[in-house]
Amino acid sequence: MPRHLMNPMDLTVEEIQSLIDLAGDIERDPDKYAHACDRKTLATCFYEPSTRTRLSFEAAMYHLGGHVLGFSSADSSSAAKGESVSDTIRMISCYADICAMRHPKEGAPFVASLKSSIPVINAGDGGHQHPTQTLTDLLTISSLKGHLDHLVLGLCGDLKFGRTTHSLIEAMSRYEDVEFILISPPELRVPNYITEMLGKKHLKYTEVQSLEEVMPVLDILYMTRVQRERFFNEDDYVRMKDFYVLDKPKMELAKKDMLVLHPLPRVNEISVEVDDDPRAVYFKQAQYGMYIRMALILTLLGIEV
Ligand code: NCD
Repeated sequence: MPRHLMNPMDLTVEEIQSLIDLAGDIERDPDKYAHACDRKTLATCFYEPSTRTRLSFEAAMYHLGGHVLGFSSADSSSAAKGESVSDTIRMISCYADICAMRHPKEGAPFVASLKSSIPVINAGDGGHQHPTQTLTDLLTISSLKGHLDHLVLGLCGDLKFGRTTHSLIEAMSRYEDVEFILISPPELRVPNYITEMLGKKHLKYTEVQSLEEVMPVLDILYMTRVQRERFFNEDDYVRMKDFYVLDKPKMELAKKDMLVLHPLPRVNEISVEVDDDPRAVYFKQAQYGMYIRMALILTLLGIEV
């Protein structure tokens, strides 16, 4: 049976640590891995737009010596003719060794995984989960902070539809002494299943609206964009889209060693003037995304170097 990745919780804390360690080794000595995936093929099946996730998956496979095939929109695949993801994955299983799938419908990659004879990686399903972004975030925090425990983590923006925040909160809930500060307008609060999970585990969390007020206590600020494509009407989006803008005056309120992460793409929620602040690590974070995906591909294919 192939091993799939739908949710970061599919991996144990120890497995996540092994992926982080492997990604670190790959970054230090990329030549060692340059032929690890010779004659292996990755399929990228993207039914929704993407820049970083798809290209970092593809770059990851090329850097491992493998091949890549796939599609970058539903229009250019047989989904446009009405084919189901179950049928599509059965085809892909004949042409590729591993598949990364992004889909606007929650659970679509999971449905595909049930019919797949190759590992399927959820590369983002609707407003639900985005486990490989979370692995990227964990590698970033672990590399730049040196630890994943004892942190005050602020997540700001669209916590309702932002799948990256759901996956990150779940993953971080397993490390010791992590406090969550959930910063959003009331309409964009995290789904109940997330707060229920935090409550059940007796973890410290607060839901607030003001970013300024909590800036001084944060170790990590995870900014997100308002997810326009998941709104039911444009007026609500327009009302909400510039609710938070991280700028220089707000950065002055923060700790000297706080880190600002963002899965990107950014719209207006981080002013470009923040980019030069050494605490702004979102572009570095995107770079880490390739190394962790290299580690994940090797691990799910069972390849040891
Ligand atoms: C995120 C996503 O697709 O959920 N982007 C990404 O994968 N880096 C965040 C977003 O689109 O806002």
